[in-house]
Formats: sequence, structure tokens, C-alpha cells
Amino acid sequence: MTTVQLDHVSKSFGPVRVIEDVSLTIEPGKVHVLLGENGAGKSTLIKMVAGIHRPDSGRILVDGEPVHISDPRAAEALGIATIHQELNLVPSLSIAENVVLGRFPTHLGVLSRPRARSIAREALDAVGLPLDVDTPVGRLGIAQQQLVEIAKALSVNSRVLILDEPTAALTGREIEQLFTIMHRLKERGVAMAFISHHLDEIPLVGDVVSVLRDGHLVAQVPPDTPEPELVKLMVGRPIDQQFPPRQAQLGEELLQVEGLSSAGKFSDISFTVHAGEVVGLAGLMGAGRTEVIRALAGVDRYDAGSVRVAGRRLKRGRVANSIAAGLGHVPEDRKQQGLVLGGSIWENLGLATLFSSAHLGIPDRRGQRARARSVSERLRIRMHSIDQRVRDLSGGNQQKVVFGRWVLAGSKVLLLDEPTRGVDVGAKVEIYELINAVVEGGGAVLMASSELPEVLGMSDRILVMSEGQITGEMPAAEATQDAVMTLAVKNVNNAEIGA
Ligand SMILES: Nc1ncnc2c1ncn2[C@@H]1O[C@H](COP(=O)(O)OP(=O)(O)OP(=O)(O)O)[C@@H](O)[C@H]1O
Ligand SMILES: [Mg+2]
Repeated sequence: MTTVQLDHVSKSFGPVRVIEDVSLTIEPGKVHVLLGENGAGKSTLIKMVAGIHRPDSGRILVDGEPVHISDPRAAEALGIATIHQELNLVPSLSIAENVVLGRFPTHLGVLSRPRARSIAREALDAVGLPLDVDTPVGRLGIAQQQLVEIAKALSVNSRVLILDEPTAALTGREIEQLFTIMHRLKERGVAMAFISHHLDEIPLVGDVVSVLRDGHLVAQVPPDTPEPELVKLMVGRPIDQQFPPRQAQLGEELLQVEGLSSAGKFSDISFTVHAGEVVGLAGLMGAGRTEVIRALAGVDRYDAGSVRVAGRRLKRGRVANSIAAGLGHVPEDRKQQGLVLGGSIWENLGLATLFSSAHLGIPDRRGQRARARSVSERLRIRMHSIDQRVRDLSGGNQQKVVFGRWVLAGSKVLLLDEPTRGVDVGAKVEIYELINAVVEGGGAVLMASSELPEVLGMSDRILVMSEGQITGEMPAAEATQDAVMTLAVKNVNNAEIGA
């Protein structure tokens, strides 16, 4: 049994104070929830326990003893495992290699591949992920990668487990599975810290909630605190309208998809999205939503069918052609596909307009910067300056940068794949308002989301996918969670659902 105490810790990056005099205790057999807006300092705080950042002042105590956690290995030696917000797997390595990375098992001094495989298999079983451990991680979707990351952390038998937004990339069934595991770990006396922007998860696993605002610990409350109360503590004001209303006129068919098929991914996908319309794309993990969106965006090729934007047929698998036609794509995995992490905020915001705004091949630096500044203000991206590297933004603020690029580009058709993943409750409303502004301005939005309330609350019409096909369509006004779920499990064989 291990207790971790943060004792008056503070942390600055350059001149900016990010954590200010925070004290809290992570106790054995308890889940300590950290709550706060994007950029409040949650990840920075737990990175001090994980050995990634060192506090400028204050102490960290493990079982009452002050410790210096100089690097991640030192944290591991203290029995502390961390699942970071951004995935840390090596895409080209297999699942087995990733699970044992950094501690490859040996047999009589020789690296043991069979042993690595069996460790990985056991770890995957624990999270209910029936995959071949020789599969390269890069071939997995983001939810599966997240489960591998969780399996990896669990396989080291830690006494302290830190989970930074583990549920952001997961859907209902996997989240339940994770919570079952967390309850088992509680019984075994593991001390846990848990970060999530899904407030409904807090009473299910939490024991105590610490609320951070601008790096300060502003409150410590029980897990059954009503959500509006939690929101007020986090944001400093109540949020009364989760899904802001919009007034959009339905216009012409802006996006026309006909008979789109891609072997092994999806087949015969046909639908349209009108100007002024938000169409929600619902389905379970693996239903093919991301694959369809990637094909529409020009990221992947497809075998048959056509995609038209404002009547103009797009070339297959050509991102630049799709962008030029007015498509904007917010991918499910911002780190791998959406951002140049080493680049600045303004460069990232301007990626889609770099060429179109240039004169005689010379980039319009000043214009790009000015536009980036105004978009980042509109999106309330929390940063010190637009020259800051995107890598140093908090996760939710990185998501806003990906979104902001297409706002800046004035895209007519937005393809959004989990647009509010990792975004805090207040910033979600800001993103919804932007979606509204796009359709009110005559644009069209296709939005895939695993959050059913979001699909129901934001869409005009809902398409449901299952096993690579569209299994149903309904106006959002008539849709219920049950109706959507029934269509989402159509075609799925029952053995799989029960698993
Ligand atoms: N390495 C770094 N260099 C400079 N600034 C940083 C660095 N890491 C974090 N920051 C800044 O510290 C602040 C807190 O970031 P942190 O990642 O802890 O937020 P968070 O609460 O985890 O937010 P989110 O919910 O979006 O994940 C942010 O303003 C961020 O830009
Ligand atoms: Mg974070």
C-alpha cells in the first residue's frame, strides 16, 4: 500500500506559473479525481508524480518520505505507473513489444519473445481486448491503442496508478470495462489519480474530487457533488445551455456521397449533407465511421463510389484536392494526423491556407499571423502567445487548434471525427457555437461522435453505422439513445456484443 502526497508544490514554465501551491493526497484503495478546464494544470500536476516534471518548490512524499522523482524510471521504481493523456506507443512495433517496452523479459539472460508474447496476451485479456499480440500498434484505432496503453500500465503491478483522460478515446463498453478494472484495483489497495472531462464518470469511480483552476486547487468535494456545482467550481460560472440553439436555413446538397465502398472497411455508403445542416454519424467502436470520414477527406483511397462537394467530384485519396474543394477534416487522432507538434500555434492554424494565401509563392506571414490571432481568440485557446509550440499546449487546447485551422480556412464542409474529445465542458459549448456558426453561414457539417448526447443535441439528422454499413437514418428530433443503439448493433454478431 502506498500513499503519495503533494505538499505545497508549484511549477512554472519560463515566466508562466502553471501550478501554484497545490497540496493533495492520493490514498491507497481510493480514486482521486482531478477536475479542471483545459489548461488548468491537471497533466502538469500528475507529470510531477510521474517523473516528467520536477516541482520548482514544495515536496512530494511517498509513504511519508520526501522523494525526488527525477525521471519516469524513478517513478516506476516507486511503484508508480502512468497512463498519459497522449498515447506513448511506438506504431511500428507490435502490441507485445509495446507492452514490454523498457523491460523486455529475458530467459537465462536471453531476450525471450515467447515470454513477451504471453505477458502481452495476459495484459490484453485483463482489458478484454481480443487481438493478436503480433499486430503492429500503428494498425489499431485510437480506442484500441488506448486499451493497449492501459494494459501495459496494468501489467507492471503498480501500487500507484495515474490515469490522465483514459476514457477520452473509449466508448461505453470499454469505459465500463476500465471501471470494473479500477474497482478491482481499489480492492487490492492501489492508489489512483483519475482525470476526465466526462463529469458523469466521477460518481462511478471517484472517491474524492480536487478541482483545479488556473493552477490553483480551488476545492475538494465528494464524488456525488451535482454536476452543475462541479461545472461552476471548474469554470467559475454556470453553463446553462449545453447545446446552443441555431437558426440555419437548409440549402442545396453540399456534400454528396454515392455508393462509397472500400474492401474490408465499409460498403455502399450513400448520403448527402445540405448547406445549413449538421448530420451526426453514430456507431460503436469499429463501425467504420472514421474510415468513411478519412475516405471523404482524401486521406485514404476507396474502391468504388463518388464524393461531390457543391457538385464537384473529388479525386480519390488526394487531401490537397479535398481541401481545395472546401473540405475541412478534424481527425480522431490529433497527435498523429492533425498537428505538427513542433510547429507554432500560428503555423498550425495556417496550414490549410498557407498556399492559397501566398502571393507569387511568397507566404503571407503577417496576414497568417493576424488571422491566427483572431481565430485563437474566438476559440479561446489558452496560450501565452501564438508563437508557442503546439506540443506545449494542453490536450484540449491542441484540439481547438485543429478545429481552428478549418475555421480560418473558411471550409464549406467540415468532417469532424470526435470533435470534442478531451475538451472541457465550457470549451465544448464554444466548439458547438462554432459548428453552429459554420452551418448558419451556409456550411455543412458531418460529425462522428461516440457521445450520444452530443450527437442527439447537435445534429439535425442522424446516420447510424454498424459493421461498415449505414443501418439507419432518422431526424434528430425523433431520435432517442435507444433507437440509435439498436441500429448501432445491427449486423454485429451476438457473440461479439456479449464479449
Ligand atoms: N512543457 C511546457 N512548456 C510550456 N508550457 C507548458 C508546458 N506544458 C504545459 N504547459 C502549459 O501549462 C498549462 C497547463 O497545462 P496542462 O497540460 O497541465 O493542462 P490540463 O489541465 O492537463 O489541460 P487539458 O484538460 O487540456 O489536458 C497550459 O497553459 C500549458 O500550455
Ligand atoms: Mg491534460
